[in-house]
Amino acid sequence: METKRLIIGNNNDMHNKAVVEEAAALLSAGEIVAFPTETVYGLGADATNEKAVAKIFAAKGRPQDNPLIAHVATVEQLRGLVDNLPQYVEDLIKAYSPGPLTYILPTNGTCATNVTAGLSTIGVRIPDHPVALAILKACNLPIAAPSANVSGKPSPTAANHVFEDLQGKIAGLVDGGITGVGLESTVISCRADDVVILRPGGITREQIEKIVPVADIVKEDNAKPASPGMKYKHYSPEVPLWLVKGNAAAVQKVVDNEQRKGKKVAVLASRKIYEQVQADQRINLGDTLPEVANRLYDALRTFKKGEIDLILTEVFPESGIGEAIMNRLRKAMTKYIEE
Ligand code: TXA
Ligand code: MG
Repeated sequence: METKRLIIGNNNDMHNKAVVEEAAALLSAGEIVAFPTETVYGLGADATNEKAVAKIFAAKGRPQDNPLIAHVATVEQLRGLVDNLPQYVEDLIKAYSPGPLTYILPTNGTCATNVTAGLSTIGVRIPDHPVALAILKACNLPIAAPSANVSGKPSPTAANHVFEDLQGKIAGLVDGGITGVGLESTVISCRADDVVILRPGGITREQIEKIVPVADIVKEDNAKPASPGMKYKHYSPEVPLWLVKGNAAAVQKVVDNEQRKGKKVAVLASRKIYEQVQADQRINLGDTLPEVANRLYDALRTFKKGEIDLILTEVFPESGIGEAIMNRLRKAMTKYIEE
């Protein structure tokens, strides 16, 4: 299959409208299409069409028991997919949707059963991206969309990442430039009076706690995960990734040790450490945690087997979006070094 690349232009409304309509037409016809959201690129299919949704699992190599998030353009559409909304969810929606927050609620059965992997709940979110919203409005369907990467790899934050992973396996790719947040949405299980954060993400714990109590994070238990996605390997670069807790000197010590063994070492770090460390390759992740979140997946994809033997990154503070950054790094890492 040839993947049609549909490019959103900056100043050409007519062209952009045609791109959105073509993407919506492909989705309505049961094809799968990747498109940008404010978090990462999603790989969309009509969530009411079981055959279309099955194509997502095939293209990504995604385990069948890992449910998908349904994306909608409006609160009315969201209501149309779930049994009922607790008042606090209405308040969260008012505060943070459209935005990087996914609500896990009892499904009313509108979406195909492979969207929810047979669970009684469904994840729904309203993405805060003009292209995603335009496509959702144009096809007027709930769109099931996981991140548009091959399962296990870092999520795509640029159209090229999607192309690298899925070229030839999907009908279309809408190129809308680099995504904003850079990490996926926060996934919350919405219980009667409180929520459980199943996956930290673009909306922080602090933001959610302003509206509803957050219960202690569920311990990751591979036998019975609260969120099926939590048991799989995720976000992994091609080469081993080690986390080093400490300052630039601590990172440099590990670089020197490994280089002495003949390894080529790359360092991914915020600017302060980046500027003080010498290595075979270095990437500056920026000055703030939101910058680190925005650049992280692209940086993890930069290093290829054969060019680099080891990636080192620092341990970031777990406040704000730092909780999501560290969640992804812990899942991606192969070793944690603490002096
Ligand atoms: O930002 C995002 O959320 C991106 C963009 C494309 O919207 N999507 C995304 O989807 O990250 P995905 O499939 O890569 O991750 C969805 C996560 C998985 O960990 C999955 O297990 C969990 O949400 N999930 C989905 N439905 C669920 C449900 N009914 N119960 C528990 N967990 C669920
Ligand atoms: Mg994913």
